[in-house]
Amino acid sequence: GSTRFYDFKVQTTKVTKLCKTTNIITINGMYPGPVVYAQEDDRVIVKVTNLTPHNATIHWHGVRQKLSCWFDGPSYLTQCPIQAGQSFTYEFTLVGQKGTLFWHAHFSWLRATVYGALVIYPKNDVPYPFPSPYEEHILIIGEWWNKDVLQIERDVLASGGNPPVADAYVINGQPGPLYNCSKNDIYILEVVPKETYLLRIINAALNTGHFFAIADHKLTVAELDGEYTKSYTVDHIMLGPGQSANVLVTTDQPVAKYAMAASPYISAQNVSFQNISAIAHFHYRNANPNGVALPAQVPNFNENSAANNFVTGLRSLNAVRVPLEIDTNLFFTVGLNVDECHSSTPNKSCQGINGGVNKASMNNISFVRPSVSLLEAYYKHINGYYTDDFPGVPLKNYDFVNGAPNNIPNDTQALNGTRVYVLEYGTRVQLILQDTVIVGVENHPIHLHGYSFYVVGSGSGNYNPQSANFNLVDPPYRNTVGVPVGGWAAIRFVADNPGVWFMHCHFEIHLSWGLSMAFIVKNGDGPLESLPHPPADLPKC
Ligand code: C2O
Repeated sequence: GSTRFYDFKVQTTKVTKLCKTTNIITINGMYPGPVVYAQEDDRVIVKVTNLTPHNATIHWHGVRQKLSCWFDGPSYLTQCPIQAGQSFTYEFTLVGQKGTLFWHAHFSWLRATVYGALVIYPKNDVPYPFPSPYEEHILIIGEWWNKDVLQIERDVLASGGNPPVADAYVINGQPGPLYNCSKNDIYILEVVPKETYLLRIINAALNTGHFFAIADHKLTVAELDGEYTKSYTVDHIMLGPGQSANVLVTTDQPVAKYAMAASPYISAQNVSFQNISAIAHFHYRNANPNGVALPAQVPNFNENSAANNFVTGLRSLNAVRVPLEIDTNLFFTVGLNVDECHSSTPNKSCQGINGGVNKASMNNISFVRPSVSLLEAYYKHINGYYTDDFPGVPLKNYDFVNGAPNNIPNDTQALNGTRVYVLEYGTRVQLILQDTVIVGVENHPIHLHGYSFYVVGSGSGNYNPQSANFNLVDPPYRNTVGVPVGGWAAIRFVADNPGVWFMHCHFEIHLSWGLSMAFIVKNGDGPLESLPHPPADLPKC
């Protein structure tokens, strides 16, 4: 492969949207940020220079970072943040990877505006497994916030309560005409009749899943999270934050303007938010420019069945290498908690559920980010920053049908800790992710760094090993899985990439509340199985 060089300047940029001018953090002044283009097996080198007064890091979401864990990017996990005025060069190889991924900041809520697509083409002379499209376009879904997102995170943690919601949803940075003062802020994709287009769709939103549809047009999913799927034709797709899909669309309708809608999928109960879709236009050439765009049909924001039906129909294109035998069988709960309000509760005004402090956890451990990089602490054997005793929890009733959320139990609290789970190199892992309903149910998009995994099963209610049905033949291979509301998802992967790998809910607010943990994957025997040495310019805390 060849080497692709990019220069990223993290900077403050003035942007006017919804009739308000704000300073946002961007890469090179662009919102969304620059697209990184590469081919399978290429080396990517990105020098990131931080010209803002804030900390920053960049994460290459979905890049497996085989033997390059130092360049993964989550702050305090694999590196200290790049401080004001400093730079750090990310260098990694896209080993066996192709498709649509994205990159984003991984410090506080900076990824609200610091994100962009990562497009990896197949190698020269390797065709797509579908007829070559007429054109390819990127649609990246995000959230627009009028306020400083770093301040929003500080405020919400200080209040103990729920976060505010985004001021708008956006497609390629544009909200479309449905918001106040946004009539002309619309992304327009001009198309010609009787052709097939490849749309690379990414959900980069902070806190919202999205349904996506185009008026009167079918979508054929061909790839998911950078892996080909069996062709799957639907009226709408659903992407949680962190997920991406390539879809094929044929312009087989009368010449006109059609709306493309990204509408919120919000499974949490009792949240108030603006139920307004981001709209872009799918504009046939020679359509009347003043005509109205035909409206897109999307499911209602709380249609869990629409989200679940979409994902259960997804299949890998090829028979895959699903581990059939399992060495380590893990069961992790994912969910929200609420701590009691104590006078000693630091800096909290207890505006959470039942007058408490909102939190989130995996296996009832609310992750506390260390003040150094975990990877560095592990590599250099520095004691005192983490423990390797991430606990198990019993398989029991976590199902909302029998209690919460109408009947919130007394025991809703989580323990704080920086506790990791250690995997021997080469371990074949099955992990069941179980949604809890201690204080409310929600579809959590769980993202694992350093790996893709097979989503071998999912279901509603409590996971039951006797009745669970698994697909070990052609399950989708993803980097982010939505754990169904009040249900479970099962994933499998082989732990063959040494390092420290973050796993977390890709709702930024849940990350702030502690819905995360880390795996340490140990060295194997050979030099190609061991942790590389840290780069010389690795930022210091
Ligand atoms: Cu895209 Cu740790 O995240």
